[in-house]
Amino acid sequence: MSRRGKVTVVGAGFYGSTTAQRLAEYDVFETVVLTDIVEGKAEGLALDLNQSRPIEGFETTVVGATTTVDGGGYEPTAGSDVVVITAGLPRKPGMSRMDLLEVNAKIVRGVAEKIAEYSPEAVIVVVSNPLDEMTALTQLASAFPKNRVFGQAGVLDTARFTNNVATTLGVPVGSVQTLTLGSHGDTMVPVPSACFVDGKPLADVLDADKIEELVTRTRNGGAEVVALLKTGSAYYAPSAAAARMAKAVITDSGAIIPVCAWVDGEYGIDGVYLGVEAEIGSTGVKRIVERDLTDSELAGLKEAAEAVRAKQADIAAL
Ligand code: LAC
Repeated sequence: MSRRGKVTVVGAGFYGSTTAQRLAEYDVFETVVLTDIVEGKAEGLALDLNQSRPIEGFETTVVGATTTVDGGGYEPTAGSDVVVITAGLPRKPGMSRMDLLEVNAKIVRGVAEKIAEYSPEAVIVVVSNPLDEMTALTQLASAFPKNRVFGQAGVLDTARFTNNVATTLGVPVGSVQTLTLGSHGDTMVPVPSACFVDGKPLADVLDADKIEELVTRTRNGGAEVVALLKTGSAYYAPSAAAARMAKAVITDSGAIIPVCAWVDGEYGIDGVYLGVEAEIGSTGVKRIVERDLTDSELAGLKEAAEAVRAKQADIAAL
C-alpha cells in the first residue's frame, strides 16, 4: 500500500487523539502529527499509538509535538497536506456550542495563523465549536482560499440521524440514508426528502410525529452525549467524521458529503459558511452540490444561513 502526505491534528483531547488514531489506522498517510499545549501529552499519545502499530498492522508514523500558547513548537507540522483543528474547549452540560464562541475564537485564531505560516498549501478541516463560526474564523485568520477551509458537521449530524432512524426501526444502519444541512446547532436542517430506508422514503416507513421526534433528537445529539458524560463532549462519532473528511482530501476521493463550506450563490444564498453537500478532494471543496429541496427544507436552509451569517459577521472582531 502506498502511503503519502502528512496530516496534522491540532489538539490532543479525546476528539483530537481519537481522530489521530483513526487517521493512523487508515494507513494511508505517511505521517500523522498530533499537537497539544499540555507538555508531553501529544508526544506520549504518539508513542502509544506507534506502539500499537505491530498489533493493528499499520505503518503510518505518528509524531507528537508540544506547542505553546504564543505559537511556538509548530515546526513538526510543517508542510502538512491536511490539518484538522480540534483545539478549543468542549461544552459542559447545559452549555450551547455558542457559549464557547469567545474563548475558542482566540484559540482557533492563533492556531490558524500558525498553520498558515507552516503549511501554506494545506487543506484545513475545522471541528472546533461553535463550528460554523470557527470555520469562518479559520478562513479569515489563515487567509486561505475558501475552498481550502471547511468544517465538520454534516457527516456527524447525518450519522446521528441515521443511527436514530436505524435504532427506532430496528434495521441495520447500512440500510438507512439520511441527510442534514444548515448549521451545526439550533438551525440544523434535517432533510427528510433525502432520507431513505431500504430505498423507501422515510415518510413511508415512519409517521410525521416520529420523524419530527428523531429530527429533534438529532439536533440535540451532541448535547445528549454531553449531558451523560458530564465532562467533555462526544468524540467517537465526531472523530470518525473528521477522519473521513481528511481521508477524502488525501485520497482525492471526490466523495460528495455534507460539510460546512463557503456558499456563494448556491440555493440563492450569498457569502456564508454553511452546511451543504460538497465534492471533497485534494483541493478541499471542489464544488458545492445543490439538490432539489422541498419548500420548507429550503426555507430552513435560508434561515440557517441568516442565523450563522449574523454570528459570522461578529467573528472578525474576536
Ligand atoms: C458534537 C460536538 C463535537 O456535536 O459539536 O458532539
